[in-house]
Amino acid sequence: MSAVPRPLLLCPVCASPLEEVGQSLACARGHRFDAARQGYFNLLTGRGSPFEGDSVEMVDARDRFLGSGAYAPLRSAVVDAVLQHSGSPGVVLDAGAGTGYYLEGLVGRSPGCFPVALDISKIALRRAARRLPGGISIVWDVWRPLPLADGSVDVLLNVFAPRNAEEFVRVLAPGGCLVVVTPRPGHLSGLEAVGPLLSVPAHKADDVLASFGGALVETAREDLDYVLSLPRGLARSALVMGPAARHAPAEGRSGGKADGAGAPLEVAARFTVQVLARGGRSSGRADGTDG
Ligand SMILES: C[S@@+](CC[C@H](N)C(=O)[O-])C[C@H]1O[C@@H](n2cnc3c(N)ncnc32)[C@H](O)[C@@H]1O
Ligand SMILES: [Zn+2]
Repeated sequence: MSAVPRPLLLCPVCASPLEEVGQSLACARGHRFDAARQGYFNLLTGRGSPFEGDSVEMVDARDRFLGSGAYAPLRSAVVDAVLQHSGSPGVVLDAGAGTGYYLEGLVGRSPGCFPVALDISKIALRRAARRLPGGISIVWDVWRPLPLADGSVDVLLNVFAPRNAEEFVRVLAPGGCLVVVTPRPGHLSGLEAVGPLLSVPAHKADDVLASFGGALVETAREDLDYVLSLPRGLARSALVMGPAARHAPAEGRSGGKADGAGAPLEVAARFTVQVLARGGRSSGRADGTDG
């Protein structure tokens, strides 16, 4: 972890500022959180959460899939969106960061930023912490008040992950932006050949915008569509890393016997990348390619 900018982190027990003390974070009232051996901080200590983070199986699958470069065009689009809005972002929070893939891409192009990976899955954050040695990875439940100071985040990323609109607005700095990625109907179609898929509801991006009730306005929206040619093993990873994995029968979840067998599958990637900011900016909405 490199020096944490201040004020940024708040004690989850008493809401006083958290400071770095050696390998720990501590507040003036004596609450202290030690770094896990793998480098992340679990601020949810002693508090359990009803929400389930991604499992080892899902995180392994996601790491394999992202490592193949299948979502590299999406990562570029996310980083472009960030840099177009904020030429040189300071603190960048990824809420539901998973393995830190998108933050890693941003750090690669904007080395001066301070990445904060937040996720409820320790398993995912072990990898994020490795990928983001110059930032901080914190285990937290996005549905609780975030352990971050008001207006402390210059850029907030939210990629296929839950959104707490009220808290996102609170932590976003004036002039900051939120970049949200959602799937569109037909996303991952083609994967049915390896297991059941959950359908993607229409108008997700509109729902995202509406969920902010006017506190944030949309300054850009781009649809990004392309076709992936996935070897069978990777196609199974795509299935296992997503929400369908929780509902799929065991056969659809295994990386199984037939890995690698059969022709690659043509699979659709269909995303929307949205940029939201506090009111007052002009809309730069750009509907992108749809094919
Ligand atoms: C579909 S994954 C996306 C991960 C990452 N953004 C990516 O695209 O690679 C959703 C992530 O949200 C996390 N998550 C789910 N519920 C959460 C919660 N209540 N608080 C924080 N993270 C949560 C999961 O652990 C998982 O890492
Ligand atoms: Zn405290």
